[in-house]
Amino acid sequence: MKGKIEGILQDVFKSLGYDETIKIVSSKFDDFQCDVLFTMAKKYHDSPISIGKRVVEEVYKLDNFSHYFKSVEIKGAGFINICVSDEFINECLKDLIDDFGFKSRNKTVILDYGGPNVAKPLHVGHLRSAIIGQAINNILKFTGYKTISDVHLGDFGLQMGQVIYGILHDFENVDDASINLDYLNEVYPKISALCKEDDDVKNECLLITKELQNGNEVYRKLWKKICDISVSDIKSTYDYLSVHFDLWLGESDSYKYYDELFKIFEDKKVVKTDDGAKIIEVAEDDDKITIPPCIVQKSDGAYLYATSDLGTIYQRKKDYDPDNIIYITDNRQELHFTQVFRACKKSQIYDGVLEHYGFGTVNGTDNKPFKTRTGGTMKLNDLIEEVKREFVSLRVENKNMSSEDIDIIVNAIIKFADLQNDLTRNYIFDISKFCNVNGKTGPYILYTYLRISKLLSSNDGILSNSIYNDIDRKLRLKLLDAHDVIEMASLERKPHFIANYLYELCVIGNSFYESNKMSGLDEFTKNDYDIVLSFNNHVIETLLGLLGIKIPKKM
Ligand code: ARG
Repeated sequence: MKGKIEGILQDVFKSLGYDETIKIVSSKFDDFQCDVLFTMAKKYHDSPISIGKRVVEEVYKLDNFSHYFKSVEIKGAGFINICVSDEFINECLKDLIDDFGFKSRNKTVILDYGGPNVAKPLHVGHLRSAIIGQAINNILKFTGYKTISDVHLGDFGLQMGQVIYGILHDFENVDDASINLDYLNEVYPKISALCKEDDDVKNECLLITKELQNGNEVYRKLWKKICDISVSDIKSTYDYLSVHFDLWLGESDSYKYYDELFKIFEDKKVVKTDDGAKIIEVAEDDDKITIPPCIVQKSDGAYLYATSDLGTIYQRKKDYDPDNIIYITDNRQELHFTQVFRACKKSQIYDGVLEHYGFGTVNGTDNKPFKTRTGGTMKLNDLIEEVKREFVSLRVENKNMSSEDIDIIVNAIIKFADLQNDLTRNYIFDISKFCNVNGKTGPYILYTYLRISKLLSSNDGILSNSIYNDIDRKLRLKLLDAHDVIEMASLERKPHFIANYLYELCVIGNSFYESNKMSGLDEFTKNDYDIVLSFNNHVIETLLGLLGIKIPKKM
C-alpha cells in the first residue's frame, strides 16, 4: 500500500514540475504522513505550505481520488497527512492475502553463524550468533535468496593442541573409552590454565598444534576423536534451538588450499616477511584508528585465525561462488574481519560482498556479562536449563504442559528476548521478565496467537469492502506493513524489525480481541473478521517462523 501511495503522489509532484522521491511513513493521527515538503522548500525557494497546497489541490482532482483516499491535508508546518479509503485498504489486503511470498532473487549467500570451538562448551556468545544468524538465514531464504549456512567449527587452533597435550599426559592408550565429553569438558580449562603458568607447557601445546596442522598422524587420529565427541554434543544443542547448518566444515577444511592461497599472495605481491612472519599490510589512508597488518603465518611456520578465514573465503568462492558472505560474531572480532576483508580485497581472492555483523554482549540484571547463579561463566546449556526452571515454576499450569510445548516456549523466551534488540547492542537478560506472558516477550506473542486462533472458524475467503470500527481498521492497516517489514529486515539483515513489528501487531490484535465480540455478529461481519484474523495469525506464524520460533499446542 505504501508503495502505491508513494507512486501516486510522485506522479502528482511530477505533473507540477517537482522531481522528488516520495516516502511516506505511518502516522499516529492519520494513516500516513510525508515530510518531503521541508526539504523541497529550500530547493524551490517556496514555503512547504504553499507547495503542499498546490500538490493537494492536484491530488483531489485525480479521477480515482475517492477510490484511494478519504482525505489528503497539509498539517502543522508542512506535513502531508493522508487517510486512505476503506476500499483501498481492503483491496491491498486482498492482494497481500493472495500473495504473501517473495520472488527469487537469483543471489547466493553464505552465512557463517556457528563458530563453536571443538572441545570447548558453547557459551552465551555462541547463542547469539546462532539465534541471530539462523533468523537472518530464514529471512533471506524467505525473501528469495539462495542461502548456504556453514557452521565453521573452530577445530584447528591452539585449544586442539592443548587437549591433545592433556590426553597424551593422562592416558597411555589413546583409544581409552574414558576420553569422553566429560573428560573433554575438564581437560581444556585445566591445560589452558597450565599454559598461562608454565611456558614450557605452552610451547609444547603450540608445537603440537603446528604438527597437527602439518599432518602428524598420531595427532590427527586423536584430533578426529575429539572432534567426533565434541561435534555430536554441539549438534544436540543446536538441534534444541532449531539452528541448522548446511555445511559442517571447519577451519581445518581450508588448510588444503593454503599453498594455492600463498601463491596468490606472492603473485599479487601483497605478502611481506616481517621479523620472520608473513604479513599483509591492510592499513588505509583515511583510517581513524590504526589497523595493524594481517598476519597470515607466524615466524615458526604456524598459521593463524586470519589464515583460516582467508583460506575459507577462497574455498567458498571455488565451491559455491557466492554473491555475499555474511558473518555474525561477537563485536570484539570487528578488527579481525576488517583485516581479513581488506587482505581479501588486496589479493583479489574474492570479488563478492563480505559483510560482518558484530553483536553485543548478553548481560545479567547487574548489567555485567551474564553469569550463572554461582558466578561462573554461563554456558549455553546452563542458560537453557535456568529459563526452563523459571518458566515451569511460574504457574502450576506450566508444570503440566507437555515437554515439547515447554521446549518450544523456552526457545521462544530466549529467542524473542534476543531478537527484539538491534543486534549491535548489549542487552540485559532478565529471566523473570522474559518468561512473563505480559510485556514484550515471546510468551506474549504466542499467547496472542493462541487466543486469536480460538476465535477462528471457516470463512468463504471473500473479503467485503467494509471496515467495522477503529481497531479493526488499525489491525488491517498494520497487517499491510508485514511485507515491507520483512523486506527491510532482509535488506538490512536486521531481525529486530520483525520482532518489534510482531509485538506491535500483537498489541493491536489483543485490543481487537478485547473490544470485538465474535458471538452475535451478522454473517457478513463474521466472515470478514474471520478472514482478517486468519491472515493475522498467518502473519504471526510466518514471522515467528522467521525468528526461529514455533507455536505450542497450548499454554
Ligand atoms: N570460532 C570463533 C570463536 O569462537 C568464531 C568463528 C566465527 N567465524 C569465522 N569465520 N571466523 O571466536
